[in-house]
Amino acid sequence: MRSLLEKAQNRELKITILGMGYIGLPTSIAFARAGFNVNGFDVNEEVIKTLKSGHIHIVEPSLQEAFVETLNSGKLKPVDMLEKSDVFIISVPTPFKKDHETKIADLSYVQSAAKEVAKVLEKNNLVILESTVPPMTTKMMTDILEKESGISRDQFMSVHCPERVLPGRILYELEHNDRIIGSERRDAAEYTKIIYDAMVKEGTCYITDDITAEMCKLVENTFRDVNIAFANELSVICDKLGIDVFELIKLANKHPRVNILTPGAGVGGHCLAVDPWFIVERFPKEANVIREARLINDYKPRFIVNKVDEILKADKSLTIGILGLAYKPNIDDLRESPAMEIAEILRDKGYKVIACEPNVSKKEVHEFELYSLGDILEKSDYLVLAQGHDIFKENVDILKSKRIYDCLGLLK
Ligand SMILES: NC(=O)c1ccc[n+]([C@@H]2O[C@H](COP(=O)([O-])OP(=O)(O)OC[C@H]3O[C@@H](n4cnc5c(N)ncnc54)[C@H](O)[C@@H]3O)[C@@H](O)[C@H]2O)c1
Repeated sequence: MRSLLEKAQNRELKITILGMGYIGLPTSIAFARAGFNVNGFDVNEEVIKTLKSGHIHIVEPSLQEAFVETLNSGKLKPVDMLEKSDVFIISVPTPFKKDHETKIADLSYVQSAAKEVAKVLEKNNLVILESTVPPMTTKMMTDILEKESGISRDQFMSVHCPERVLPGRILYELEHNDRIIGSERRDAAEYTKIIYDAMVKEGTCYITDDITAEMCKLVENTFRDVNIAFANELSVICDKLGIDVFELIKLANKHPRVNILTPGAGVGGHCLAVDPWFIVERFPKEANVIREARLINDYKPRFIVNKVDEILKADKSLTIGILGLAYKPNIDDLRESPAMEIAEILRDKGYKVIACEPNVSKKEVHEFELYSLGDILEKSDYLVLAQGHDIFKENVDILKSKRIYDCLGLLK
């Protein structure tokens, strides 16, 4: 252990990262920038080919420049074969299982990554799971490593260190956010902390057990989801009461200890709309508030469509313009986006639907023609303000003069 500590302190460790996606690639760059020797491995040969040619395959500001720098420094090496290492970091996808009637995590990527690591695992190695996972998954990973490698679990280290970065600021947040490091072995967590302390410039690395670390990541996103669901539920109730939810929330927030969030088109993205289900799947009887919150947020796009349909008296000759398709303001990410769902349901109902999504350069997204703000205002009979992009905020006065359904209260 002593020599391991010295190797970590002297940056002499070899770190292999499995999964060169939105998290694994920037993490490789951050550890290489901290002075470690990093191998970046991915099962997708195209990804490794692209990286070897000096290009990144994901959209993330400033990442290309940082990647080239670390590649040229010789500290980061994209590889298509796993090699023996001191440290392995698993950063593979954890989506829902397809074709399953309830939403449960598909852990097959974590399982196969653990099996691959087991083939080259040696005593005293450290294996860190960074993927977002349901509680007890780190123990499952340790079971696989032990069984497949034949090395007893007290002779290697297993740790969970979840990721909490914001797309668009990934590299900065990797080097500045606090981290949670959890392991059933205290010495493994302390050893991991030395390595992450070298990479995290400003944040603090906190140590706990593996299950608490797993839950910590899930609870952070669930907290946001539940609070947004409260606001979205209020918007539905206020609609029935015939009062303005945005006015209500503004007044309620005058209370010194009340801070209700703003309702919107729903909740999207690959974290908030997914992670709470990882708690529900393990605790279906207990996680009632969490499940209801997910259902409320998932229902919001359909509620908005029904309102629009009612306002337009189901006149399918009308053209509806959707303002904003992304799931968050000022980004191009359409994954699980409630605005996309609104557009799709309205189209399926028979309306002609067009959209303005200034963050997407294509002319067409999922069969929706994209227009500039000026053009969509001209071409639409009715508008749905679904996302609070800056360009819409800058044109509030023009939007106010149109026939528009404001999901966000921006025009109040
Ligand atoms: N993207 C985010 O903003 C974000 C934020 C926090 C946490 N997370 C979590 O981090 C994890 C990774 O997410 P991501 O966005 O980087 O995913 P991603 O889809 O961008 O990348 C995952 C990569 O893993 C590769 N892969 C799959 N199986 C593999 C294996 N066995 N060995 C090696 N590589 C393999 C894939 O080919 C892919 O390139 C997920 O659990 C996600 O929930 C993501």
